[in-house]
Amino acid sequence: MSHWLITGAAGFIGANFVRLAAGGAGARLVVLDALTYAGNLENISDLIGDGKVDFHRGDICDEKFVTDLFARYRFDRVVHFAAESHVDRSILGAGPFIRTNIHGTAVLLDAARASWKARTGNHLFLHVSTDEVFGSLQPDEAPFTEDSPYRPNSPYSASKAAADHLVRAWHHTHGLPTIISNCSNNYGPWQFPEKLIPLMILNAFDGRELPVYGDGRQVRDWLHVEDHCRALLAMLEGGRAGRTYVVGGACERANIDIVQRIAVEVDALLGRPAGASAKLLRHVADRPGHDRRYAMNAAVLQAELGWRPRHDLESALPAVVRWYRENREWADRIRSGAYLDYYEKQYGARA
Ligand code: NAD
Ligand code: TYD
Repeated sequence: MSHWLITGAAGFIGANFVRLAAGGAGARLVVLDALTYAGNLENISDLIGDGKVDFHRGDICDEKFVTDLFARYRFDRVVHFAAESHVDRSILGAGPFIRTNIHGTAVLLDAARASWKARTGNHLFLHVSTDEVFGSLQPDEAPFTEDSPYRPNSPYSASKAAADHLVRAWHHTHGLPTIISNCSNNYGPWQFPEKLIPLMILNAFDGRELPVYGDGRQVRDWLHVEDHCRALLAMLEGGRAGRTYVVGGACERANIDIVQRIAVEVDALLGRPAGASAKLLRHVADRPGHDRRYAMNAAVLQAELGWRPRHDLESALPAVVRWYRENREWADRIRSGAYLDYYEKQYGARA
């Protein structure tokens, strides 16, 4: 039976990926996560309880832990999500980003290389990266493609760019079968509420301010997380080693428009008078070095692997707002910090 290692699966995209893969990949899913502030085992606890995934708490920077895991399971696929992922935190302090995103990726690459050297098989190391490595687009520039030059601007995107370069080098020098996926901004269930969309939804529910950085005219290309995960599954199935694939929703929206749209949805859901939540919107100091625009052209992925997004933001957003309402207790446990004890309560003392 095929064994997949999924790193960072207690985070937002990893958890959504595991849910999708557990439903149909026909592989044994082994999940590794350090459970940093961004990792919440509750996101996948039902799957662990059902025996659909094996969970291991550990750090991708820990060589012994990672090597032992490879020896135990003999993975043929690695899907690498684990990362420090929030730009604002990388501005406050880059250390954890350099450590996890760069060093941690190198540890995983070496473990895969050592484990796969002697074996022939259908091995693949899928590295999950971001559009932010390509920097910022001018309003009239064409969207990024697989050939766009790397121009990262934030400590976060620079650390992800470094990781992408390591993956590329391990393929070029050591022949490691790798794919790099560069995806645009995701939205959907289980997103940690420090990111724009869940933060604005939860603040609007509570009548708290909606803090828009600067003029709010920065543009992101939004993709539903399930579409991202389906793109990754398509790469695992039919992608070619050594390739990069660009993933995006062709859905460019200014932040301010997203926030106003969320305000409308929250008013409708909670039965507030029209315009009530929009009054919570505040322009606050801009993010230093804030990238103005990201956009992706996923034509190669569409042509080679037949992938198409199934969700569009306009029709998906009401369901996402409803999800955060229906999962209010999940969000409350994050906001109160209670989620940090989840692992200990379920599995005893910290390893
Ligand atoms: P997230 O912050 O929600 O989750 C990251 C997960 O990694 C957490 O569960 C955390 O505990 C774990 N982790 C962190 N450091 C670790 C370490 N040293 N060892 C083991 N586990 C560790 O992030 P996300 O939004 O789910 O993003 C997942 C990946 O996708 C990241 O690599 C990110 O760069 C990339 N990405 C994200 C987006 C987006 O819009 N969120 C878009 C494109 C690409
Ligand atoms: P974010 O969700 O942090 O993703 P990224 O920085 O990786 O694109 O932010 C999305 C956009 O929303 C980005 O342009 C910054 C902006 N933003 C705000 O205006 N206010 C906020 O409180 C946050 C968290 C983000």
